[in-house]
This record gives sequence, structure tokens and C-alpha cells, in this order.
Amino acid sequence: MSNGRIIAVRNLKKHFENVKAVDGISFNVNAGEVFGLLGPNGAGKTTTIKLLLGLLEPNEGEMEILGYDPEREEVQIKQKIGYVAEEPLIFKSLTPKDLFNFIASVRELDESIVEERAQEYMESLEAMEYYNQMIATLSHGNKQKVQIISAILHDPRLLILDEPLSGLDAKSVKVVKEILDLHTENGGSVLFSTHIMEIAEELCDRIAIINKGRLVGIGTIEELRQQSDKLGASLEEVFLRLTEQDTSVNEIVSKLRESFKKKKELI
Ligand SMILES: Nc1ncnc2c1ncn2[C@@H]1O[C@H](COP(=O)(O)OP(=O)(O)O)[C@@H](O)[C@H]1O
Ligand SMILES: [Mg+2]
Repeated sequence: MSNGRIIAVRNLKKHFENVKAVDGISFNVNAGEVFGLLGPNGAGKTTTIKLLLGLLEPNEGEMEILGYDPEREEVQIKQKIGYVAEEPLIFKSLTPKDLFNFIASVRELDESIVEERAQEYMESLEAMEYYNQMIATLSHGNKQKVQIISAILHDPRLLILDEPLSGLDAKSVKVVKEILDLHTENGGSVLFSTHIMEIAEELCDRIAIINKGRLVGIGTIEELRQQSDKLGASLEEVFLRLTEQDTSVNEIVSKLRESFKKKKELI
């Protein structure tokens, strides 16, 4: 693996029957950066992440993550990274405290250090009151906080977060941003997925915009902003255009208008 490269993906393809979920994607993630996969629902973000983790087999393409091959070295990858799944798979009958202790024992970490760090994170995310409460009873946002903390307790070199902020309020998003910044300042990297341009803009150094399994734009936020300026559009507008969401919104709105008009005529 070349200097400072944490993830390398070349011409990656994954098909499910007749759906081309990932259709020839290539990108690199470098040491110390927060890299975002940005795209609408169904773009292929989760599939790309699962391929990188060795949870799915690709149809075609090459991948390397922390120098490992996901198809053969899934276990090594799991030990070295922190992963927050889109669908939380955490043990619902445990409390956050139990879960963090469990992680400490599985990952062979010092329990008292883990407990101290976990409590610090829980406090900074304003979730300490749930420390001894069963995870099943927590809100979606608080479950996400617990998942994010679980993923960083062992100080992984690479954090992979699949839409981790969907249930969080604006303040918690800021705290998570701080956590990610601290992580990258210490040389860590982050691969992050979101369907929200604003979140990508706020959190990522560089983004790959994907639509229908294909890469439709890549660059630093600044580069993409400059390109948008040249087109006389905002970054958000360019994102919506690149991912074909602008026309679909217009169509939906005009259909809604029409059906609303018909309803009024019926009254
Ligand atoms: N296990 C699966 N079987 C069949 N189709 C799937 C499966 N997983 C994902 N897909 C399809 O692949 C496409 C990409 O899905 P996904 O990677 O989950 O997108 P995203 O995470 O960007 O929302 C979608 O059309 C989705 O329906
Ligand atoms: Mg997804």
C-alpha cells in the first residue's frame, strides 16, 4: 500500500440479481482524513462499506484496507477498525456500561481506562443518565451515541461510520464532529456515509458523491464548492443535480399539487 493510504478501492462492483448496487467505484482514503460517501438512499453506500469489511463478496474489483484484503483478512480488519453499522446490532438487553465492559474484555483493553473514557464520552454527548439503563429502552439517537462510543474505545486507526448521525440532534452532531476531529488529529482516519450534503460539508475533508452505484463527483469540499461556483450553483444544488434528485423533487411536488387540486375540486 502506498504511503499514507488507508483504503484503496478500484473498479469495485457488486450486483444483487438485477440491481447494480455498486457499479465500478474507485477511491482512496488517506491517513488523517475524514472521507465521506455521499449519496441518496439506494446509492450503494452501505454495500460499499460492507464490501470493505468483508461482509459481502464483490463481483469485481480490488480493495485494500489498512493493508489487508477484505476477502481473505476480514478478522484482522475487524480488530483494527471501529465500525458503526447503519442498523445498530448492539446487545439490547445490556446497559451501555455492560456493553463497554464487554467490549473491553473482548478487545483485551484495560477495564478501568475504558470505563473512564466511556463515561467521558457519555457525558460529552449528554447521555450519562442512560449509562445504567437497558439499551433496548434508549431512543434511536442515544443508541447511536452508544454505538459510536463502542466503536472508538479501542482507539482504532480507522473508523467506519454508516449514517451514524441520522437520529442525533444538532448539538450531538457537533460533539461527534469534535470526536472525529480528535481522532484524525491523532493520525486516525474516518470513512463516513451520509445522504445529507450539509452533514458531509460539516464533517468531511473529502467526499465521493455516488448515485446508482456510480461515482459522479469526488474532491475536497473546497474543490467541489469552487466547481459549483463556476456553475453558478450552490454545493447543495450541484449535489441534487449530480444525484438526479432535483428533477425527481420537482416531479413529486407537481404531482402532489395536482392531486391536491383534484381533491379541492371534489369538495
Ligand atoms: N441484500 C440485498 N439484496 C438485494 N438488493 C440489495 C441488497 N442490499 C442492497 N440492495 C440494493 O442495492 C442498492 C444499494 O443499496 P445500499 O448499498 O443499501 O444503498 P445506500 O446505503 O446508499 O442507501 C439498493 O437498490 C438496494 O435495494
Ligand atoms: Mg445505507
